[in-house]
Amino acid sequence: MTAQLRILMCSPDHYDVDYVINPWMEGNVHKSSRDRAVEQWQKLYKVLKARAIVDLVEPAKGWPDMVFTANAGLVLGDKAVLSRFYHKERQGEEPYFKAWFEQNGFTVYELPKDLPFEGAGDALFDREGRWLWAGYGFRSELDSHPYLAQWLDIEVLSLHLVDERFYHLDTCFCPLEGGYLLYYPGAFDAYSNQLIERRVPAAKRIAIEEADAVNFACNSVNLGQVVVMNKASNSLKSALARAGFEVVETPLTEFLKAGGAAKCLTLRVNEPVMEDRHAVAGVETRVIQMQGHLLDSGLINRALDLIVEGGGSFQVLDFRLGEQRQSTSAARIKVSAPSHEVMEELMAQLIDLGAVAPDDRSERDAQLEPVELPGVAPDDFYVTTIYPTEVRIQGRWVRLQNQRMDGAIAISGLNEGQPVARCKLLRDLELGEYVVTGIDGIRTVRKAEARGDRTARESQEFTFMGSGVSSERRVELVVEQIAWELRQVRERRGKTVVVAGPVVIHTGGGEHLSRLIREGYVHALLGGNAIAVHDMEQALMGTSLGVDMKQGIAVRGGHRHHLKTINTIRRCGNIAKAVEQGVLTNGIMYECVKQDVPFVLAGSIRDDGPLPDTVTDMVEAQQAYAKLLEGADTIIMLSSMLHSIGVGNMTPAGVKLVCVDINPAVVTKLADRGSLESVGVVTDVGLFLSLLMRQLDKLESPYELAV
Ligand code: ARG
Repeated sequence: MTAQLRILMCSPDHYDVDYVINPWMEGNVHKSSRDRAVEQWQKLYKVLKARAIVDLVEPAKGWPDMVFTANAGLVLGDKAVLSRFYHKERQGEEPYFKAWFEQNGFTVYELPKDLPFEGAGDALFDREGRWLWAGYGFRSELDSHPYLAQWLDIEVLSLHLVDERFYHLDTCFCPLEGGYLLYYPGAFDAYSNQLIERRVPAAKRIAIEEADAVNFACNSVNLGQVVVMNKASNSLKSALARAGFEVVETPLTEFLKAGGAAKCLTLRVNEPVMEDRHAVAGVETRVIQMQGHLLDSGLINRALDLIVEGGGSFQVLDFRLGEQRQSTSAARIKVSAPSHEVMEELMAQLIDLGAVAPDDRSERDAQLEPVELPGVAPDDFYVTTIYPTEVRIQGRWVRLQNQRMDGAIAISGLNEGQPVARCKLLRDLELGEYVVTGIDGIRTVRKAEARGDRTARESQEFTFMGSGVSSERRVELVVEQIAWELRQVRERRGKTVVVAGPVVIHTGGGEHLSRLIREGYVHALLGGNAIAVHDMEQALMGTSLGVDMKQGIAVRGGHRHHLKTINTIRRCGNIAKAVEQGVLTNGIMYECVKQDVPFVLAGSIRDDGPLPDTVTDMVEAQQAYAKLLEGADTIIMLSSMLHSIGVGNMTPAGVKLVCVDINPAVVTKLADRGSLESVGVVTDVGLFLSLLMRQLDKLESPYELAV
């Protein structure tokens, strides 16, 4: 039976490594020996010839990679889908292969221009003929797969290649007789691995190690029970033997330098058609639209990266670039995904980036499911983001209230025909409410006008902030802009909330923050037990955690100071009473009490005391935080990872967020909210606060003409 196999090869007369189009070719340009290549190729030819019919295509001068006939096209029965090479270095091979197919009686199918597909290098039939495995990610485009399904009338299973060393499917994947599969799992993304595991039972999967993979063990030619390859480890040989296969090694090192081996050098040209198998195209496509400052905000890059990283592929159908700095751009993008599940996952993330799918889904009503257990959402509930969101209910778009991230969308008032949509934490869901599930009828509103609708003065302000984290050298500039912002908020009676950690005190920022509060720039303070204890320790005893704040040296017995502080406040009753009784006479907490600035101290497991004011019930503390954050214009986060992240979660997009921390990781995490309004400053908070006060003083000082 194996004698009937027909294979196409191309002798290496013009073979060389002339250019670099895959990682194996790097460093190997003109490093391969023609003689050795010819010898190795001849040996392979003989091995195959003994077991199959081998046809030859005339090599063409100037096309050194033409030896790799696997990339000529994909053959099934009497049909051949001609390759469309991704790299121009190989595109010249196409007419030669086309001619060969035509001369040999194949009906040739050609893909649209600019839709790369590299033939049997990226498409391998299950050896039982049940379906076609097709790779994408490097050389072939996912969008080529539906054509294969249609033309060859076969189910196509798309596999996402993610390791550039294994840029063609046949470098890491080899279906074998009897439904076996030789493959290197590390070359595929998680979804593809699941797909493989679902289709091929564990007993038939022969997963190889990286050491074998880099020797191109998967790049084998399977002829009945024989597997021909460059090289195999002993363990691989025995694994194959257990499955009833015999390995024939034939060195192909000269071809490895171009990123190919046994399988690449061959193309099976008599693939039998299974009459009872038919096309199932797994690939789904959808068109999305995006609008806004797509380039300035990096939104378009993020959308495209997200599609590719998520296992999809895209085609930009049109891109209208806004010509002025303030004008917005618009894009229409065709998104393809290997399956419905992957598409849903991609769409959910794209919607979060502000994409709309004008074609269908967004024009449907959102799916609603009733709350069946208080505090528990239906399984497939939509998870909210910080971006203003609308849901379509009974044909109308309804804006969400209490926008925040990590909530569910709860709908009430449905029966009264007055639907109200709210972001709610899971624990707050009540019987009688409905929850939005899936992704239909949901759109997030990215303020396209984020820039355009601001006044000139304003637009200069926070625009730099879109760039995220500021480096040390830009600190002064940032501080200047923040000072301006704080001054404006105070003037228009807006709301600035400060979130602060105890580092503010250790770094000598206490006096500055006190002043900021005293001068009316702060309208709420959020923190933990520690900031208050350290602040009051300094106020009462001049130390912070026992260190003298004026001299910077540890005070004898000072480590007891913070416990003494807690004790003192406990004796007074609470912080406000300590102020009232004249015990506490300065500092941050003192100013809060004096200026009527509300504060919430949220407790934690590591608190000393805690202070009577500290809220130790976490749910209560979160609620108290949320209450004080309502209506905030600007939030300044000062060196408190825990409380800042907590606040970030509760805060919708559009609120200006300034995060100051000496640790870049914290700053990045908070500042990178994908909105133009957040900024990170990596610096010492004490220094930041003193610079800020200096800037505010400057704004207070009489106007001086620059000379
Ligand atoms: N140098 C060739 C290329 O990068 C090698 C092709 C290997 N062929 C294969 N089916 N994997 O295109």
